[in-house]
Amino acid sequence: MKTIPSIIKIGMLGCGVVGGSVARELASSGADLAARAGAKLELTKVAVRNLSKRDGVADSILTTDAESVVTDPEISLIIEVMGGIEPARELILKAIANGKSVVTANKALLATHGADLYAAAEKAGVDLYYEAAVAGAIPIIRPLRESLIGDRINRVMGIVNGTTNYILTKMDEEGLPFEVVLKEAQALGYAEADPTADVEGHDAAAKAAILAGLAFHSRVTANDVACEGITKVSAQDVATAKSMGKVIKLIAEAKRSDQGISVRVAPMMLDRSHPLAAVREAFNAVFVESEGAGQLMFYGRGAGGAPTASAVLGDVVAVARHIVAGSKGPAESDYADLGIAPKGASITKYAIRMAVHDKPGVLANVANVFAKEDVSIQTVLQKGRGDAAELTVVTHRATEANLAATVAALSKSDVVREVESVIRVEGSAS
Ligand code: HSE
Repeated sequence: MKTIPSIIKIGMLGCGVVGGSVARELASSGADLAARAGAKLELTKVAVRNLSKRDGVADSILTTDAESVVTDPEISLIIEVMGGIEPARELILKAIANGKSVVTANKALLATHGADLYAAAEKAGVDLYYEAAVAGAIPIIRPLRESLIGDRINRVMGIVNGTTNYILTKMDEEGLPFEVVLKEAQALGYAEADPTADVEGHDAAAKAAILAGLAFHSRVTANDVACEGITKVSAQDVATAKSMGKVIKLIAEAKRSDQGISVRVAPMMLDRSHPLAAVREAFNAVFVESEGAGQLMFYGRGAGGAPTASAVLGDVVAVARHIVAGSKGPAESDYADLGIAPKGASITKYAIRMAVHDKPGVLANVANVFAKEDVSIQTVLQKGRGDAAELTVVTHRATEANLAATVAALSKSDVVREVESVIRVEGSAS
């Protein structure tokens, strides 16, 4: 007969902002969490880099020996909130090999070594849960992994990086340039001292890979994601978008086509009426389009101690319930194996902003370049006169390859002084 544990001992790797919140919540809401899980949840060891005091965490459970946490025979659940690839990868694999279920918030690790971790968890018959890895507090992993498992998802679009959404919101609402807003965001603690992972889109790319893999039941890694950040988005781009009734957001998009999955992180112009356009400041949201459910939107806080700890604790209780029941949650689902669509095949609309000479025939000439490359024009916006003359052409849907050829031809054209920017425009219909 199976013995039902009355106490589930938990080890934690890392005790920063999120880990501290998790530890405090496990202590203060212990009775409720125990009632929900069906067993008392006891944090018995926390691996840290140095033994300095942590608010609300007993000194006696802190250790610098992470290995002793993942091999402790009494611990059956490991929370990994240390981040980074190594030693997190090695420690998680060791925990799994020792029969422990794992709850992690580590998007970079899952987006690069997910397959190895899922395989190890499957082999060991334990859970690997990671709700906090994408969009912090927002429940999106479980909806994709469980609630929508009977549906067919066609596209996932998300604002999954709070730092860049904060910056783009300020650029839009206050008309300020990127560099100025970045400095302000750093001063307010919305952006890191080294903002590269956020502003270059790498953080969002890891999250996009995880979402794409789940949505399309296929293996997708961070390397499969075409990634462009927001450092080249200028105040003029934002103003042009505004004058067309649009807003620029850093969008993580995963969609399926006959040629496979396209996953991308890039600045995108959205109509102001699009649900994601209303997501301001550091908030995150994920917009899902599926056959049956239609359009769904998940919205909330994508970072921060308590919000991220909420997602971690949700996983902890779910996994604890499985331990109590002697069961486990769903394994990785990669059966569909859709593959990654070839680069250049992705079809979307574009806004091309260019400085042009101001004389008769320029528009006809520019239109001709688009026609030659088989790219259809939807609208043209002209601003300024003389040396300041500027054209923004919004295309109908075109392949990336045709668009690249158009931009190359425009750059060589006598009537175009410079192609200033090329930004994707959301719009699946035309
Ligand atoms: N740095 C991320 C953000 C949060 O700005 O949203 C953690 O993934």
